[in-house]
Amino acid sequence: MKKNIKGIGILTSGGDSPGMNPAVRAVARYAISCGINAYGIYEGYKGLCEGEGYIQKFEARDVSNIINKGGTMLYSARFPEFKEEEYIDKAVKNCKKFGIDGLVVIGGDGSFRGASDLCKKGIPCIGIPGTIDNDITSTDYSIGFDTAMNTVIEAVDRLRDTCESHERCNVVEVMGRNAGYIALETAIAVGATVVVIKEDLNYNEADAIEKIRASRAAGKRNIIVIVAEGVDGYSEGFAKRIQEQTGIETKFARLAHIVRGGTPSLRDRLEAARFGTAAIDLLLEGKKNIFVCERDGKITYRLISEAMTLDYMYKKTFTPDLKLKKTDAAPETYCERKQKEFNDFVAMRQAEVKALLKIANEISNYS
Ligand code: ADP
Ligand code: F6P
Repeated sequence: MKKNIKGIGILTSGGDSPGMNPAVRAVARYAISCGINAYGIYEGYKGLCEGEGYIQKFEARDVSNIINKGGTMLYSARFPEFKEEEYIDKAVKNCKKFGIDGLVVIGGDGSFRGASDLCKKGIPCIGIPGTIDNDITSTDYSIGFDTAMNTVIEAVDRLRDTCESHERCNVVEVMGRNAGYIALETAIAVGATVVVIKEDLNYNEADAIEKIRASRAAGKRNIIVIVAEGVDGYSEGFAKRIQEQTGIETKFARLAHIVRGGTPSLRDRLEAARFGTAAIDLLLEGKKNIFVCERDGKITYRLISEAMTLDYMYKKTFTPDLKLKKTDAAPETYCERKQKEFNDFVAMRQAEVKALLKIANEISNYS
């Protein structure tokens, strides 16, 4: 039976990502077509707490002409106060005031933690993964990842041109917070000689430098090295050591936020439409405290609490000193069947990364 939902709110939160706009559009347009009032909430949880002036009822035309735009028309904010009960209560009050019976939160794991707190106070929330990092373990995909990677490819292709002309090496640091997905997949796509990510527990700098030396000895003029920002404070120093130890002139580039802007790609627009409509369907089915995921090409969902535990379990495999956060339930608190499911899932993610690393290393080998 369909839930009686009269109004939903949409907000974007945390780091923006290309594709958030098409997601806002999909959620708003689909909600309106289901006879639900759609409210845009500006500046994430900050706007939800402020209320007046930050919450706007959308007509279908209000989300026109954003499908092709990067960033988010709803703007985003980091609002650490939202961890405090006083602010969650303000948000709940505003939901009631504006007739918001359900909330769609587009963002990353931090945003989902906020959504979970709201659910506990009686506001049904559904998350949509929107982060370039693609670092939410439960989902194969998060909106923005594809566009960000295409931007990296374009930038590195340009660096490669000039490296080839000048017979240089270029170390490129890419975003991704603690996750190496952007680095790993783009390294394959640009033909990088070396990729450095936190998840690669077998990484050895001496071997990497030897590989660079061997590539040059075999006649390779341009040498590209991709480093994930999650490998803290590593990239710039590594560039210096490559030059010192190989004699190859080595430049350094940090792509940083460039990768977060720009026109959303086909994939990000498509996923935004799939995730956005699924979120409304799930709210109408009475689901809450979940987020929409993609597994093996299919749209599914997972409890936010389980996703936090899975994130913790997976990230601990390459960050052994990772601490449990307030909202991550310890894996042992789940039943045996769930624990097995989580362990299998983590093993599957590790295997995926290992397989990609193997490809990256093998197809860039000159020896
Ligand atoms: P992302 O959603 O991309 O992971 P953040 O970690 O910055 O980005 O989280 C986005 C916002 O979500 C924060 O600014 C804050 O308002 C809210 N948030 C983050 N962590 C929590 C938490 N533990 N409890 C409640 N709200 C949170
Ligand atoms: O989560 C997206 C992301 O761009 C990360 O890749 C990066 O570490 C972080 O946000 C940067 O945050 P800020 O925009 O606050 O500098």
